[in-house]
Amino acid sequence: MQVKTYLVTGGAGFIGSNYVKYVLSNFDDVQLIILDALTYAGNYGTIAQDVDNKRCLFIKGNICDQELVSKLFSTHPIEVVVNFAAESHVDRSIENPRLFLETNILGTQNLMDIARKSWATGKDEHGYPTYKPGVRYHQVSTDEVYGSLGAEGYFTETTPLDPRSPYSASKTSADLIVKAYCETYKFPATITRCSNNYGPYHFPEKLIPLIIKNILEGKKLPVYGKGENVRDWLYVEDHCKAIEKVIRKGRVGEVYNIGGHNEKKNIEIVKLTIDTIRHLMETEPAYRSVLKTNLSTVSYDLITYVQDRLGHDMRYAIDPTKMKNELDWTPETTFETGIVKTIRWYLENQQWVEDVTSGEYQNYYERMYSNR
Ligand code: NAD
Ligand code: TYD
Repeated sequence: MQVKTYLVTGGAGFIGSNYVKYVLSNFDDVQLIILDALTYAGNYGTIAQDVDNKRCLFIKGNICDQELVSKLFSTHPIEVVVNFAAESHVDRSIENPRLFLETNILGTQNLMDIARKSWATGKDEHGYPTYKPGVRYHQVSTDEVYGSLGAEGYFTETTPLDPRSPYSASKTSADLIVKAYCETYKFPATITRCSNNYGPYHFPEKLIPLIIKNILEGKKLPVYGKGENVRDWLYVEDHCKAIEKVIRKGRVGEVYNIGGHNEKKNIEIVKLTIDTIRHLMETEPAYRSVLKTNLSTVSYDLITYVQDRLGHDMRYAIDPTKMKNELDWTPETTFETGIVKTIRWYLENQQWVEDVTSGEYQNYYERMYSNR
C-alpha cells in the first residue's frame, strides 16, 4: 500500500479537526501533517489524541510563513495539501477585514506557490510546468462566494461569484487565485464550496453552538433581524466525506458544490435547538447537571431579536447535483438526527466549551452583543 502525506492546514479548527479524525479513522493510506496557527478558533486539545497517532504530526504555524511552509515541503514528502486554514467568521470580518485578506488570500497564494515549486518536474512542449504524478492542492471554500439568493433558486458551480461580506470577498479572491493557477501554471487544484456546517467542535461564535451555550447558561439568544435569513445546513462529517472524495476522484481544475438540501430559517434553528435541549433534559435527567439554571428557563422566552448584521445575506442554498452525478456523494445525516447528535455532543463536552471560550471569547461576546 502506498501511503500519501497530506498537509492539512487549519486542522485544529472546526471542520479541519473533524476531517483529521475522519481521515485517520477511515483511510490507512494517508499520513497527516497538521499546520495550524492556533488562533482563537484553533484548539490543540481538539486534536491532541489524533496527534498521538504515529500517522499524524502537528506543527504550530502560519500558512503565510514562507520559510516554515517551504521547510515543511523540503522535510516531508507532501503530495496533497488540504487548505482549511482561514479566518472564518463573517461578524469578525466586518470588524477587521485586513486579517481576513492576509490569511485567506495571501495564505492561499503562499501555500500554492510553495507547493507548485516543490512539485514541479519540468516543462511541457508549450512551456507549462509539469508536476509529480498524484499531487493535488485542495481549497476548502464556501457557498458564500455566490452572494445571496432570494426566495427561489440554488447556487450551482456556474452561478456568478458575487460576495458581499469581507469574509466572502476574501474567500472568493482565494478561489480566483486558485483558478488562475490552474490556468496559468496547470496547477493540479480542486475547489469545494460548501454550505453552513454544524456538528462537534464548532466554535461558539457561530449560530448553533452559541445558541446551545447560551441556553445552558440561561442567557438571551441573539437572533439577528427578524430571524428569517435562510442557511442550508450540512452535518460536518458529510462535508469531510465529500472533500475526501473530491481529493481522490475529483477532476483537476474543477469546482464542486457541497450542500445538504437542508434549508432552515434562523428562527427555526433556534426554536428547534431549544425544543431539543428541553426534550433531552426531560427524558434523560442526567443531562440536567449541565444546566447552569433550572429547566423552566429553557424556553422561547430566551429569544431576543437584535440589530441585524450589516450586509446580512438573505439566503444560501446549494445545488449538489454535480457531486452526486460525478462522485456519487449525497449527505447521509438528516438535520433531525444531526442536530440531536450535535446537541448531545455539547452536553457531554462542556469542558471543551470552557477550554475554547476561556481566551478572548468573553471580550468578543461583550463587544459583539452588549449594545446590539
Ligand atoms: P474555524 O475558524 O473553526 O477554523 C479555522 C482554523 O484555521 C483554526 O484552527 C485556526 O487556528 C486556523 N488558522 C487561522 N488562521 C491561520 C493561519 N494564518 N495559519 C494557520 N492556521 C490558521 O473554521 P472552520 O469553520 O473549520 O472552516 C474551515 C474552512 O472551511 C475555512 O476555509 C472556511 O472558509 C470553510 N468553510 C466553513 C464553513 C462553515 O460552515 N464553518 C462552510 C463552508 C466553508
Ligand atoms: P453564522 O453561524 O455566523 O454563519 P454564516 O454567517 O457564515 O452563515 O450565522 C448563521 C446565521 O445565523 C446567519 O444568518 C447569521 C445568524 N446569526 C444570528 O442570528 N445570531 C447570532 O448570534 C449569530 C452568530 C448568527
